[in-house]
Amino acid sequence: MTLAPWRSPLAHALHRNRSLVYARYLQLATLGSDQRPANRTIVFRGFLEETNTLKFVTDQRSEKVNQIAVNSWGEACWYFPKTREQFRLGGELKVVGENHPDATLTKARRLIWQDLSDKGRLQFYWPDPGQPQAETAAFDPPENLAETPLTNFCLLLLEPERVDHLELRGDPQSRSLYQWDRDRAHNWSVLEVNP
Ligand SMILES: Cc1cc2nc3c(=O)[nH]c(=O)nc-3n(C[C@H](O)[C@H](O)[C@H](O)COP(=O)(O)O)c2cc1C
Repeated sequence: MTLAPWRSPLAHALHRNRSLVYARYLQLATLGSDQRPANRTIVFRGFLEETNTLKFVTDQRSEKVNQIAVNSWGEACWYFPKTREQFRLGGELKVVGENHPDATLTKARRLIWQDLSDKGRLQFYWPDPGQPQAETAAFDPPENLAETPLTNFCLLLLEPERVDHLELRGDPQSRSLYQWDRDRAHNWSVLEVNP
């Protein structure tokens, strides 16, 4: 696997912002079935091994999963405060649930569950998201949290096809557009554009 050319500046940004826990939070936009954009914050959980695909976790019962089933295109917007740069990553989203046919992906799902803290796992025991508030007892933790992923736990993948990197530092500012070309041997092209 060759690293996409935007991986190096992104790795650099992650490294230089590593002291900020929220530098691993990004906004993910999807399209609702009503054709309106929907946007939310999620946590970056690294790259799928040997790929340029970003990993996240989410709940099968959440609205975004329904949206992705209808339209799998998504765009992440990620700002790094220390280095004052933004990455916008657009591409295909994939939801990996319990019965996904790809064994590599279900293994990745299992491993990411094992990496979650108890607090992270607990959220998947909560009552259905987006429904009228349940009584407090419904949020009580179970005696033991499962070692294997709960049914509603999903690995969420974003495979970028275009990446827009804007750097505010520097005069003039700089902006690079990376585009993955399906037709040209799956190569990435890079274009420096005006900010
Ligand atoms: C700092 C922060 C981190 C979050 N991380 C995640 C996450 O990793 N995965 C996730 O599904 N939701 C995460 N959420 C909650 C989402 O923003 C959102 O409220 C939830 O997923 C429901 O979104 P939906 O109805 O569009 O599916 C996070 C929220 C915040 C504020």
